[in-house]
Formats: sequence, C-alpha cells, structure tokens
Amino acid sequence: MKIKTAELERVCGITSKLPENHFPEVALCGRSNVGKSSLINTIINRKRYARTSSEPGKTQTINYYLLNSCLYLVDLPGYGYARISKEMREKWGLMIQEYLTGSEMLRYVFMLVDLRHAPSKDDIKMFNWLKYLEFDPVVIATKSDKLKPVQKENNLKIIRHDLGADEDTIILPFSAVSHEGLPEILDLLSQVVEQGI
Ligand code: GTP
Ligand code: MG
Repeated sequence: MKIKTAELERVCGITSKLPENHFPEVALCGRSNVGKSSLINTIINRKRYARTSSEPGKTQTINYYLLNSCLYLVDLPGYGYARISKEMREKWGLMIQEYLTGSEMLRYVFMLVDLRHAPSKDDIKMFNWLKYLEFDPVVIATKSDKLKPVQKENNLKIIRHDLGADEDTIILPFSAVSHEGLPEILDLLSQVVEQGI
C-alpha cells in the first residue's frame, strides 16, 4: 500500500466519547517509549507528524490518523510508565480498555515490544488480554537497528517464547531508522483495506 495522504483527524482524551468511524482501524499499543508514534511517522513517511519523545509518556490521548481517506491508524497512550501518577495510569488504562473493547471498526492490533529486551510483565498481560478479546495481535519488535543480526534472531525467539505466542503469530522486527519491516507492515495495511468493512 502506498500512503498518499495522512492526516491527524481526531484526538480523544479521557472524557471524550469514541467516534463512530466508517473506515477500518488498526491500533498501535505497547509500552511507553517503545516507538508507536515513530512507527506512525515511518508509515506516513513524515519525520515528526506524530509527536515522539525520548521521555516516556508523550502520547496521552487516542489519536486517529486517517490514511488515504480509507483507513485509520490509531495511536494509543503507552502503558507501564512508572513516573506518572497512579491515578493517571489507571485513567489511561481504562481509556485503552474502553477503546479496545468498544471500537466497532477495530480490525487489527499491532502490539509493539522493544526488540532489545525480553517482554515486560505488562507486555505479557497485554498480549494475553488481546488474545482473550480474540484479536490476533501482530507483534512488532521495534528498534531493530540497535542490534546485530545474531542478537536479533535470539531476541525474537525470547519474545515469542515469553509472550507464549504460537507459530501463527506474526512477529516482525522493525526499525524507524533503517525501515526494516516497513514493506511487511504496509502489506498488512493493504490487506485490511482490501478486506473492507
Ligand atoms: P509514548 O507516546 O510515550 O507512549 O511513546 P511511543 O511508543 O510513541 O514512542 P516514540 O515513538 O515517541 O519513541 C520513543 C523514543 O524511541 C524516541 O526517542 C524515538 O526516536 C526512539 N525510537 C523509536 N523507534 C525507534 C527505532 O526504530 N530505532 C531507534 N534507534 N530509535 C527509535
Ligand atoms: Mg507516542
């Protein structure tokens, strides 16, 4: 899929009602700082359209990016960030939960993990919860540019093992720097568009 147009169409905060969209949605979830917003910028081929930061906790709202006027990429706040208040963490948690269980047009969930590390407890919880909700999450292992090929292969195995992901689960190494994994991700997005509503 070639991305011709992309715009941030809607931003939902803690108190907003979820929009009734008419196009399929692909959501990005994962720990704070794992690279969700960077993945969006890579997909839409812009450097800083989705705001990124080396400080975790940058994205604090649910952001809907409309691609080619036919598909939404949905950037979610990150989880597992200890330096925000417990109250805010709970609110974000609820917001993510409400989105994942309540969004009628959600077709695919990309769950991002950091390829450099074993999945965190929160990652494992999130993966199990997504399976329970009957999504087949695609796992995107980010920051692959920071690892040598051997380490990459090794860590991919650890991620599959620790998440308890079966052989059918797609686990894709990805880098916002080298663009490894980008063609596969664009293919997955085309499939969502082709399958339609
Ligand atoms: P929150 O909005 O806090 O949940 O974080 P996020 O998941 O949106 O992460 P973001 O895209 O803001 O990236 C966090 C940091 O990691 C930034 O400093 C990015 O430049 C860096 N980063 C993201 N992806 C990559 C990657 O593929 N390679 C490298 N080297 N750095 C990356
Ligand atoms: Mg972000």
